[in-house]
Amino acid sequence: MSTPTRWNPKDEAKHLPIYRHKTKLIRAVKDDTFLLVTGETGSGKTTQLPQYLHEAGFSRNGKIGITQPRRVAAITVAQRVAQEMQCTLGREVGYQVRFDDCTSQDTVVKYMTDGCLLREVLADPALSQYSVIILDEVHERSLNTDILLGLLKKIFFNQSKAAKQRSHPLKVVVMSATLESDKISAFLGNCPVFAIPGRVFPVTCTFGFAVGPKDLESTGYVKEVVKVALDVHTSEMAGDILVFLTVQTEICHVNPPPLFSPPTGRSVIERACDLLFEKAESIDYRYDVEDQTVEGLLILPLYGSMPTEQQRQIFQPPPPRIRKCVVATNIAATSLTINGIKYIVDSGFVKQLNHNSRVGMDVLEVVPISKSEAQQRAGRAGRTSTGKCFRIYNKEFWEKCMPEYTVPEIQRTSLTAVILTLKCLGVHDVIRFPYLDCPEERFILEALKQLYQFDAIDRKGSVTKLGELMVEFPLHPGLTRALLKAASFGCQDLLLPVAAMLSVENIFIRPGKPENQKEAEEKHKGLAAKTGGMNDFATLLSVFQSCKDSERPSAWCKDNWIHWRALKSSFNVETQLRDILFRLQQKRDFPKETHDCNKSELFRRCLCSGYFTNVARRSFGKVFCTMDGHGSMVHIHPSSSLFDQEGELDWIVFHDVLVTSRMYIRTVCPIRYEWVKDLLPKLHEVDVYELSSVAREEVTEEEVTKWETREAAKRQQESSSEDLM
Ligand code: CDP
Ligand code: MG
Repeated sequence: MSTPTRWNPKDEAKHLPIYRHKTKLIRAVKDDTFLLVTGETGSGKTTQLPQYLHEAGFSRNGKIGITQPRRVAAITVAQRVAQEMQCTLGREVGYQVRFDDCTSQDTVVKYMTDGCLLREVLADPALSQYSVIILDEVHERSLNTDILLGLLKKIFFNQSKAAKQRSHPLKVVVMSATLESDKISAFLGNCPVFAIPGRVFPVTCTFGFAVGPKDLESTGYVKEVVKVALDVHTSEMAGDILVFLTVQTEICHVNPPPLFSPPTGRSVIERACDLLFEKAESIDYRYDVEDQTVEGLLILPLYGSMPTEQQRQIFQPPPPRIRKCVVATNIAATSLTINGIKYIVDSGFVKQLNHNSRVGMDVLEVVPISKSEAQQRAGRAGRTSTGKCFRIYNKEFWEKCMPEYTVPEIQRTSLTAVILTLKCLGVHDVIRFPYLDCPEERFILEALKQLYQFDAIDRKGSVTKLGELMVEFPLHPGLTRALLKAASFGCQDLLLPVAAMLSVENIFIRPGKPENQKEAEEKHKGLAAKTGGMNDFATLLSVFQSCKDSERPSAWCKDNWIHWRALKSSFNVETQLRDILFRLQQKRDFPKETHDCNKSELFRRCLCSGYFTNVARRSFGKVFCTMDGHGSMVHIHPSSSLFDQEGELDWIVFHDVLVTSRMYIRTVCPIRYEWVKDLLPKLHEVDVYELSSVAREEVTEEEVTKWETREAAKRQQESSSEDLM
């Protein structure tokens, strides 16, 4: 069925800067194994180059694969390209992101997240299904893209054994905005650089007064952003507005990041949209608005977890005489280009995953953006004509709080999962791996330590049988280990739903209105009580099953204040995890164990085997102390059914940590000391020297001593600063 469209996207594509270079680009890809393509955002690299290569016949020898650091970008770009190529999404053009594969036998142009390609390299290092691999958005410096860059260099630069197995040589195209192109080309053996000249128009930037260095912790920037956006709407000439906000104000531990925005409360973007809507309603267009051709405001949110149908709307031109205002996360800075934007409102903040050495884990936090990022944001207003950028922060904030450049993810997050992937690929020496920017050695050692604690590698740093199984799951290693333990007992049905539900957005609705809040709380308490009200993991399991067994699952969710969309996607995730597990269980040496305990104990014992790094013991009153060597003081989060429990609750395990004014632990379950007593020593026994010496043969005794002294000093400093609080 074909619906008539008002405009033809294929014609539009002929006006993109990349179009004039089509022939030369195809030639350049043919000529060399590696090619770096640079160009301003919006010049057409992501949507056009794969199509050019397809037309030029590259897809006859295999697929054209394009990676994106963000899942939303992979999906929306694939939609756009399918539309341009006039095919159904999932046929010739498809996408694959974690837990969502929209490709088929016919797919020749495949957009995917960098995490997905990393998994494919693991299964087939020669990438034999592909004729071309395009690593896109390399300037974003995401962890997985950085690792892929090193891997592709290692495999295809000097034609390794894997590369020689291929029938046709693979072409690797690396694409980036104009930043750092010399460095990337040098890294790839001075590969040729194809620069697409772009047109950029000047953008005038103004600083505000509202946000200064003192406002780092406050969330007042939401109101300010709304105020500025409305000012623009009423006083500036026609042209669309793009507002940069963050997803959430709260700080939350997530490792790896969840598929969707983190759980509690409404997101800042939704709140800003509500506020904007409220205020925009009271505008009198006869008197309040400068440009009399503007007669309304269309407000659209844009963030990773929003439904796909809604995302599509973002790219459509607004109705005549209506101004579009998109309130977005950082995703609109480089990954996605929205046409017609003339004004930028920049909050100055971004949500970023950083390793927090005080807590000992990755923490998702809201931090000031870098100056280069602020310039990139402003640039989005100057694509088709001159534009304006309104920064809500002042000059002092710019000078004192904003770093020059964004630190690459590889230098600020936990490396546990990627180090296991590298090890499984046979990269034994993970310290001398070709990194574009080396992570600090202590981050690598920390990852090795964690893998050792989970029994994924042995003392020599070699991958164990368990490690080989663990790498197959796109989950946090601890959760994977708990799942595999359950599978060895034959009780995977207890853990699969839990793992799935912890991989999606929070399912419990927290309504905005106080009267509804009470009702929702009661319902949620009731759901927890069904399992005895003492184990949040069991509550998750029970919600999953009750909903699945009910006649009308969506009505059941509505009645119980549960997010149907989130729960539905967890059904899907569960099936996929089950398939992976089933495949592994067919292997002859899949571990099997027996037990002699009841179901509740078995469930909790399995959790312990994965969460022993997250054990806490009651210290006094409602305060618990973690047992991971950091000895952090934590509180049970009010959303837990154990929040009010006192009594016998001495030892617990938890899923994650939320840092606000206090450190809260969420998704909690009581355990017995006997279940973890053999596991806990593992947290302290590991000898850094042994692990690092396998990672880097020539490490000297002296270096290790230095490292240990530094670590000890740091611990002492941390504990003394805790004493002061
Ligand atoms: O990759 P690069 O930043 O160079 O550009 P692109 O993402 O290929 O975007 C080229 C054009 O396609 C822009 O004008 C976008 O607005 C448009 N586009 C769109 O309309 N809808 C999408 N889902 C993606 C891109
Ligand atoms: Mg792009």
